[in-house]
Amino acid sequence: MVKAAVLGASGGIGQPLSLLLAISPLVDELSLYDVVNTPGVGADLSHINSKAKVTAYLPEEGKGLEKALTGTDIVVIPAGIPRKPGMTRDDLFKINAGIVRDLVTGVAKFSPKAFVLIISNPVNSTVPIAAEVLKKHEVFDASRLFGVTSLDVVRASTFVADVVGGSPTDYKVPVVGGHSGETIVPLLSQITPKTEIPSDKLEALVKRIQFGGDEVVKAKDGTGSATLSMAYAGFKFAESLLRAVKGETGIVEPTYVYLDGVAGGKEVKETVGGLDFFAVPVELGPTGAIKATNPLPQANEYEKGLLEEAKKGLAGNIVKGTEFITPTS
Ligand code: NAD
Ligand code: LMR
Repeated sequence: MVKAAVLGASGGIGQPLSLLLAISPLVDELSLYDVVNTPGVGADLSHINSKAKVTAYLPEEGKGLEKALTGTDIVVIPAGIPRKPGMTRDDLFKINAGIVRDLVTGVAKFSPKAFVLIISNPVNSTVPIAAEVLKKHEVFDASRLFGVTSLDVVRASTFVADVVGGSPTDYKVPVVGGHSGETIVPLLSQITPKTEIPSDKLEALVKRIQFGGDEVVKAKDGTGSATLSMAYAGFKFAESLLRAVKGETGIVEPTYVYLDGVAGGKEVKETVGGLDFFAVPVELGPTGAIKATNPLPQANEYEKGLLEEAKKGLAGNIVKGTEFITPTS
């Protein structure tokens, strides 16, 4: 029996993501938590004739989160404010850092063994926040904490197909680093199947993958950022993890993880100058992240330059998240 919880379930991502989880044959029970509107979202989803039993909670003087999380196997967190035009993801830190801290504190208390999938931005910092909170409660297990970067992977295959033709589903692109602007590094020299990007299109394609989020923020014109594509990408990641947990082998997904705690992560850490968190393709298994792979040594010179830029941005983002929970001075 698999119980999934969505924290931030009434939001732009939360609602379609909850719909996808509610109709997934991999989910037996779905609990929805938000500070607003969950009774309505829950009543609506509960009429779907899928096997998942849907329950919905509001804060209820502190008890709602406990009820939503108790017995949960997988917690997906898209709670928090989205960007408006002109904002960076880091501008969301002020509000979202505290939201993620409080929700992950709930996870630490009420479902300490659950897999935790962080969608709330800035992911580069909110995942370190989550790790510190879990460490403080002595329940941190790096193989169970994931920064969801799968939208970058989804975009990369779509945008590659826009350039070279074919179906987006034909292309698998490793996207590594983090989840914001220059910290997003698509390794286009390692697309499977092997795909040549015309050199006059390469730079624009890389920029489009790095700044794909801005396209949506601009088009939504002040009403938010990507929600539907994110719900799809977040669901695909959750689905991969649940399939792996049920015993399917050979499932590999890029995700932002704490490198020291995942097999193979130390080699990645050495390659990225000691950063604690980095997104790389990770093999998933019954216990979560079972092995980080290191595609970085095969990066070409251009990609190595991109990686240098990514490392600079990520270093500050990681420290900012970690220090929010565990100040060093
Ligand atoms: P939204 O404003 O539509 O929804 C956010 C929801 O979170 C709201 O329903 C709100 O009530 C809820 N919320 C706020 N504080 C809460 C709390 N303390 N507990 C529970 N719920 C709470 O925003 P959205 O468009 O769904 O985006 C949500 C987050 O996801 C943003 O931070 C956004 O930047 C991020 N995002 C990440 C990715 C990614 O690739 N990782 C992609 C898109 C968006
Ligand atoms: C995205 O990549 O679409 C999300 O991180 C939302 C954003 O702020 O761009």
